Amino acid sequence: IVQDNISYLKKRDFIICPPDYGTLACGYSGFGRLAPFNNLEQYLRYALQSKKDLKGKNVLITLGPTREYLDPVRYISNFSSGNMGLQLALEAFSRGAKVTVISGPVDLPIPSDINWINIETAGEMSEEVENHFDNCDYFFSAAAVADYRPADVSDHKMKKKEEHLSILLEPTVDILKQCSYNKKIKKKNQKVFGFALESNDILENGLAKLDKKNLDGIVINSAIQKNGGMGSDRNAVILVNKAGKQKEIKNKPKEMISRDIFDFFI
Ligand code: CTP
Repeated sequence: IVQDNISYLKKRDFIICPPDYGTLACGYSGFGRLAPFNNLEQYLRYALQSKKDLKGKNVLITLGPTREYLDPVRYISNFSSGNMGLQLALEAFSRGAKVTVISGPVDLPIPSDINWINIETAGEMSEEVENHFDNCDYFFSAAAVADYRPADVSDHKMKKKEEHLSILLEPTVDILKQCSYNKKIKKKNQKVFGFALESNDILENGLAKLDKKNLDGIVINSAIQKNGGMGSDRNAVILVNKAGKQKEIKNKPKEMISRDIFDFFI
């Protein structure tokens, strides 16, 4: 009866926040627990967003850092929290999109009704993006992908020695560049957006990436800002589209920046 009533309400465009999985009062385990706060917030955001301009669209987002292993207990990584990508995913969801996230190791509340795929290395991220790219309309590459990985990964924990240790690094695949190249050869009507994290000549370097990676738009941000950027809940960015149109967004929460990004680019 409950399921019948829910599908009746859904048919009438009522928004239903799905329940959580776990132990229930009756002693069984299943879907029936009160949804966690982040999921209630996600559905409220959906209900309050009047723009449903992504209805019927598939949005693919990468987020978070990658880990490049040296041995079973050590890796090279960075401070990315994944929050900018999460906010983009929630904003796309609120506008009616079907969202797929390819996430590096992050400590974030996972939204419901979003296809969330966890990976660790740049190689695994590249593979998953390849699996999902053809089916997407918009790709946002918000992940802080490692540019290099150790050329040899030791099966055992490396032993300490007295002398210096040199580690040979090899380049990883540029996932974003690969996607815009695939889009070009397959002549698909997809839009590909990147991020640029710069510590000097911010606008100039960001514009060079827009051009070099053949993007439809880029979100340029500084790696050395005081109250924002990587690892923070806030950011200040410059948005630039393919035609060269620019918009500067002053420091504000990443949730609000995600709205500006969709309003500007889509
Ligand atoms: N990116 C990617 N794959 C990589 C490296 C970067 O997909 N192996 C994507 C990022 O997700 C981001 C964009 O490329 O959207 C730019 O990343 P950034 O780190 O700013 O620049 P890089 O291309 O790595 O160049 P550099 O580190 O020299 O600034």
